[in-house]
Amino acid sequence: MEKWINKLDKPLMMPITRRQKENENVDTFFFEHSINSQAGQFVMMWIPGVDEKPFSIAYDTGTELGLAVAKVGPFTEELFRLKVGDKVGIRGPYGKGFWKADGAKKVVMVGGGYGVAPLLNIAEELVQDEVDIHFINGARSKDLLLFQDRLNNLEAEIYTTTNDGSHGIKGLVTDPIKEILKKEKIDLVYICGPELMEKAVFDICEASGINCQISIERYMKCGMGVCGACAVDGTGEPMCIKGPVVDSKTVRGITEFGKYHRSGSGVKNNF
Ligand SMILES: Cc1cc2nc3c(=O)[nH]c(=O)nc-3n(C[C@H](O)[C@H](O)[C@H](O)COP(=O)(O)OP(=O)(O)OC[C@H]3O[C@@H](n4cnc5c(N)ncnc54)[C@H](O)[C@@H]3O)c2cc1C
Ligand code: FES
Repeated sequence: MEKWINKLDKPLMMPITRRQKENENVDTFFFEHSINSQAGQFVMMWIPGVDEKPFSIAYDTGTELGLAVAKVGPFTEELFRLKVGDKVGIRGPYGKGFWKADGAKKVVMVGGGYGVAPLLNIAEELVQDEVDIHFINGARSKDLLLFQDRLNNLEAEIYTTTNDGSHGIKGLVTDPIKEILKKEKIDLVYICGPELMEKAVFDICEASGINCQISIERYMKCGMGVCGACAVDGTGEPMCIKGPVVDSKTVRGITEFGKYHRSGSGVKNNF
């Protein structure tokens, strides 16, 4: 039976069972529910009377679902006002997540912000298959680094970069990846984070002939291929169905990647 046969297409109202502060701007909201997701998939979260928005699955342990949310605007501010016991609607999981690639025995993972959690989920699966992992986690400063504890428990070579040098390597995630590629033959690179970071890593991989899996966020309204809000220029494909995780070949066809994205009304916004 397919894994996503249990998918919820109608929001299920679930109480928030606990909240975990990750940094000054990000909290993980937990629900006692399992949605049998693949690493890299997302759910739609509905706050009645407010809106419905997409969020990546940070934890899906079999007993708990966890969504790591950055407070950035009206919806997420409303969510941060909710308390344990308050209910939100969840539907999903949606989209195509990260996958295990045949023959990829040595991989690099590059994450930034809440993008680190979906990568950790696929990393935890790959470790079981004895894949060698170099995991790079980057942030502007130490206080903004996410999921360092979870990373430290992963059987992988961990690199941390901060722009200001307050923790780990001073610089960008592109610094360690360049060094790794000089020394080792890497089969695949997994990328999830802010799009300009993703583009910089993708360009390095293209120059070295290495395939990537990249999670691409676009404005999503339905999350299920109906409204067309998340269609990208170049391929015209909806990222909620074709992605959010796509391979290098697909990314090459997305002419807006690393340049602009569209708002809910279709207006282009440069990165
Ligand atoms: C597949 C996917 C996975 C995501 N995973 C996470 C996650 O794990 N954690 C997290 O904090 N955020 C995640 N986001 C982004 C999240 O959906 C937005 O931060 C949220 O919708 C912001 O809403 P707001 O009203 O608080 O802020 P707004 O002020 O409305 O928006 C702030 C920013 O969020 C983007 N955004 C707003 N609405 C949407 C939407 N409907 N779809 C996509 N982007 C939107 C806007 O482009 C804008 O740049 C994800 C988005 C996608 C597409
Ligand atoms: S969000 Fe509606 S088609 Fe993708």
